[in-house]
Amino acid sequence: MLAWWAGRQKLLMRPAAKPLVFVLCLMPFTWLFYAAFNDHLGANPAEALIRATGDWTLRFICIVLAVTPLRVISGTPALARFRRMLGLFAYFYVIVHLLSYSWFDMGFDVTDIAKDIAKRPFILVGFSAFLLLTPLAATSFNAAIKALGTKRWQLLHKLVYLIACLGLLHFFWMRAGKNDFSEVFVYAGIVALLLGWRVGTYWAKARKRISAGSERSAPPMQKLQKR
Ligand code: HEM
Repeated sequence: MLAWWAGRQKLLMRPAAKPLVFVLCLMPFTWLFYAAFNDHLGANPAEALIRATGDWTLRFICIVLAVTPLRVISGTPALARFRRMLGLFAYFYVIVHLLSYSWFDMGFDVTDIAKDIAKRPFILVGFSAFLLLTPLAATSFNAAIKALGTKRWQLLHKLVYLIACLGLLHFFWMRAGKNDFSEVFVYAGIVALLLGWRVGTYWAKARKRISAGSERSAPPMQKLQKR
């Protein structure tokens, strides 16, 4: 069992692991690209492309949020190596999502796009999520971490939880017109679970710190007994 555990760590630390994850992350895009040029996207290819890239953005956001819980629960620190790449793939898919919408729905007409963002609340929410994701992608490099300082960088990257909630709201609002929420609830459940885990560990750490602090400030038991 121990050997298997150590073996899994070693496997994730191999130089080939990152390129392999990269290729896996690129597969949905490759398939969509192939399908678009080979007429495999159904009766409405533009809509299929916009929806599929929206789905993959949300999936990558969920995968990024799952890295730390999985790393801690499974005791696999090597998983942290992939977090930045997964986050950048979330940004890559939202860019493709935004470009597909701007091209196929709006014909790259910037005035029309601006009007649509202002007119349709679900687009406004999606666009806000995209805007918030941009500084996270821009500061995902070591030089940015150094420039910001670890504390400020970590605080900024907590925005990913707000982005996940905005992505869910965008999805919910879009599906409200069709009264079809089944998939939305699955993603909402996953985000709630991951957010719940974060809040739980935060509280556990805070309580530990408080009790350690009060133990340090309390007089030792022997002294109390002598009094
Ligand atoms: C983090 C940001 C975003 C996430 C997570 C996201 C996610 C999604 C999801 C999950 C869907 C539904 C896919 C389905 O029905 O299976 C969707 C649809 C859509 N999104 Fe986004 N989106 C984001 C940003 C944006 C932006 C920036 C725009 C445009 C400005 C946009 C425009 C649209 C449109 C037009 C649809 C399809 C509506 C339809 O087919 O009726 N989204 N998005």
